Amino acid sequence: MESIVKKNFLSELQAIDWDFVGENTSHAGVGLHWYPARFVPQIPSNLIGYFSEKGDTVLDPFCGCGTTLLESFRLDRKPIGIDINPVAILITKAKLTNISIEQIKSFTAKTTSSIAQKLLTKGDITLRAVPNLEENSRWYHPETLAELASIYSVILDLDDNSPEKIIGKCCFSAILNRVCSQDRHFGWICDGVHPSELKYKKASEAFNEKLVQFTNFVGYFRQSLKATEPRVTSYGDIDIHQADSRALAKFVGDNKVDLVITSPPYLSVTDYNKSSRLTMLWFGPDKWEELKQSEIGARFKRARKGSLEDYIEDSRKYMTEFHRVLNNEKYLCMIIGQSSSHPAYVELLLNITQEIGFDRIQNIRRNISVKRRRLFPRVQTEEIIILRKRE
Ligand SMILES: C[S@@+](CC[C@H](N)C(=O)[O-])C[C@H]1O[C@@H](n2cnc3c(N)ncnc32)[C@H](O)[C@@H]1O
Repeated sequence: MESIVKKNFLSELQAIDWDFVGENTSHAGVGLHWYPARFVPQIPSNLIGYFSEKGDTVLDPFCGCGTTLLESFRLDRKPIGIDINPVAILITKAKLTNISIEQIKSFTAKTTSSIAQKLLTKGDITLRAVPNLEENSRWYHPETLAELASIYSVILDLDDNSPEKIIGKCCFSAILNRVCSQDRHFGWICDGVHPSELKYKKASEAFNEKLVQFTNFVGYFRQSLKATEPRVTSYGDIDIHQADSRALAKFVGDNKVDLVITSPPYLSVTDYNKSSRLTMLWFGPDKWEELKQSEIGARFKRARKGSLEDYIEDSRKYMTEFHRVLNNEKYLCMIIGQSSSHPAYVELLLNITQEIGFDRIQNIRRNISVKRRRLFPRVQTEEIIILRKRE
């Protein structure tokens, strides 16, 4: 898709059906690891096509599970991704790991057989190696935990920073919610509600299935690269950082970015770090409390006095950063959900963008999928807001 920024893009943008119901997303690794409020890949891919050229740098400073980065890479742009949540960074890195189909198939076969071997010789499985054992024991049946311990030890033995280790960690993290005994939806895990009864779930089977799913994704993604022939970025050149988007200076210089596409955390809708609590129990980090506090708009802060004011102040900080890193007359596309508790907050954010130095070009409203509406009933629609940096 070539850029048509200078042509009649406004009417074309309005003509797109932004709900994208039923479109194929197999190349985007959508179901590899659950993540709250992720993009439909067609949103960034269309925006990238309209508002940037091949070779341009595209930043997503709230990159979540990496949807914008995958689409930017595929469409021959240079992606940069930032997120405060280490699990978001793990998923994004895993999806963009440079691994061939042969390599991942051989890794899947070897790992599956080492885990089976460990499970046969049960004496090798030591729960003492499980980090946060007491807390982990409250989420999983002892046999499930023993299986998880054996998978974990196989992953720990892999070379640090090898593609296999990143993918192994991501697949392990991806099954934790599914094999824990809390059968209610993710909100219960997020809020730390332990299951009342521990039920055995087959962790090794779930992990093997996840590896196969990952292998299929690598195949689809590689196939989609053949169609778009990206040349400007190789896997090794992709910038992905765990950081706070209110302070980007260490990672992105002034006027270095040609397009920002992002969906900032909505106000009081979800808790990203708390949603990842089961992964954090295995892979850290130690400073989890600090991370939770740095999360913008987190739901757990909703009853605090001044939560709206804090959110607006945080938004001013990150938008000032977006303005600094963007080239003149380049675009900022933000996807923001409506909130029933603070119906006017999107308008407040837009006022800030104008004060900072963006012109408002267009708003497009889209419906959120039925599945997501069930999980987040207070957010039924979201706005795609197109802004341009004033010269
Ligand atoms: C709406 S989600 C983005 C989802 C993403 N578009 C995707 O497709 O997965 C918002 C993200 O903002 C991140 N976040 C919250 N506070 C942050 C901060 N201070 N700095 C950087 N990222 C933050 C959350 O961890 C979450 O991943």
